[in-house]
Amino acid sequence: MTAPSPTFEFDGAAVPLQPGDTILQAAQRAGHEVPHLCWDARVSPSASCRLCTVLADGRPVAACVTPAQPGQRVQCHTPALAQQRLRLLQLLFVEGHHFCPGCERSGACRLQAAAARAGMTELHFEALDPDRRVDASHPDVWFEPGRCILCQLCVRASDELDSKRVFAIGGRGLGAHLLIDSPSGRLGDSALSVHDAAAHICPVGALLPKRVGFAQPIGRRPFDDAETRG
Ligand code: FES
Repeated sequence: MTAPSPTFEFDGAAVPLQPGDTILQAAQRAGHEVPHLCWDARVSPSASCRLCTVLADGRPVAACVTPAQPGQRVQCHTPALAQQRLRLLQLLFVEGHHFCPGCERSGACRLQAAAARAGMTELHFEALDPDRRVDASHPDVWFEPGRCILCQLCVRASDELDSKRVFAIGGRGLGAHLLIDSPSGRLGDSALSVHDAAAHICPVGALLPKRVGFAQPIGRRPFDDAETRG
């Protein structure tokens, strides 16, 4: 007789565990939605956005880096966590330039989808309107720093998947920004290719391949039903 697989409790449901699972991985495999922005299965986690914060046995942890433990009680969708996520998303919106209807990534943007799922209808905070200039110097990739949420996915993809290290994060606090490794600091002088994973992994509309905008019609974009999905 084989022993039953270990499980933990996720919002009251039993979730099976596999060795090495994080809370986010196990919950997603079982069909539960864990809000996240900076996690992608293709690269190592950075735990930088904190949108995936859950309560594990009452303690707040980032689900994307916290190992799931047998018997653990995880709470993800509580009113208090929902409120925290809403404020965090509102902060991300006011720290940059996120005018969704005019963005090519609209309907395919994780930030926009997370805000819709969180029920965000207003910014709540004063918009900071940072002075960040578009970098259109690359022949095939558009860089709009005002949309960058510093998730570091392009940094990790360039390093771990493309073996190039085109990107890094510089500065601190509100001065933090994406750095480009090139003689001029502009994307056009960097080693980035439009075929690189880093050119496609951005969860928002900060890095966009040129000449493919609005390719999917409204209604068929990945997050068109974000506000109604789990
Ligand atoms: Fe876990 Fe961003 S997805 S901290």
